[in-house]
Amino acid sequence: MSIHDAIATPDGKRRYVRTLFATIADRYDLITVLLSYGRDRAWKQRLVRLAAPSPGARALDLATGTGDIAFALHQLGGQVVGLDLTRRMIELAVAKASTRGPAFLVGDMQALPFPSGSFDLVTTGYGLRNVPDLPGAIDEILRVLRPGGQAVALDFNRPSNGLVRAAYLAYLTIVGSALGWILHRDPDTYRYIPASIRRYPGAAAVASLMETRGFVGVRYYRVLGGFMAIHQGRKA
Ligand SMILES: C[S@@+](CC[C@H](N)C(=O)[O-])C[C@H]1O[C@@H](n2cnc3c(N)ncnc32)[C@H](O)[C@@H]1O
Repeated sequence: MSIHDAIATPDGKRRYVRTLFATIADRYDLITVLLSYGRDRAWKQRLVRLAAPSPGARALDLATGTGDIAFALHQLGGQVVGLDLTRRMIELAVAKASTRGPAFLVGDMQALPFPSGSFDLVTTGYGLRNVPDLPGAIDEILRVLRPGGQAVALDFNRPSNGLVRAAYLAYLTIVGSALGWILHRDPDTYRYIPASIRRYPGAAAVASLMETRGFVGVRYYRVLGGFMAIHQGRKA
């Protein structure tokens, strides 16, 4: 079955994403550096600057992976929880954490194990594109935020110009296939990235969706000339 078919339904995407991130978890930090030419750190720093947690702010980092954003928020004084679907990612994050670092737990951002209004801030890096039900995930983020709390999310964009999009996706497919082969002997591994971008609505549509679902003050910042984006919105 092709990747496109495998992620075409919510159940299929859920299964595919679970298997994929369990496979790549141990090499995730290296892969992120390679695929972004080392730029990922700066993009996350920009997200954290926008999030600007005040000391003691209750922050939740979704799809936390090995915890980069959670650790950065913690350094600024946030009381941080990092949550991820993939147990191995959480194990790697915990291994990096000191006893007073962020708390990490395994969980699904589509069904958060927190009461409504629990957090001042919710962040996610490359989280929204991976969920099987994007409106449902946005609803969950809104639910766990307190009134006035904000969400900040970094992800790939889906270029609206067809030619640019085709070139971008072809580029990601070629680079992803090569890296997949070198690191896992499986060229399909990172072809998931362009496949998921193809199905993603893109930054402008995600901003509209956030507004439709109830966020206010929604805006997004273009990153890397618009190939990536950071969304920001508040709960009224
Ligand atoms: C590309 S990684 C991003 C990790 C980290 N945020 C970063 O920026 O380095 C995507 C992460 O999303 C997680 N993920 C995918 N679907 C999820 C879900 N429904 N709930 C929570 N985490 C999810 C995966 O396990 C994976 O760790």
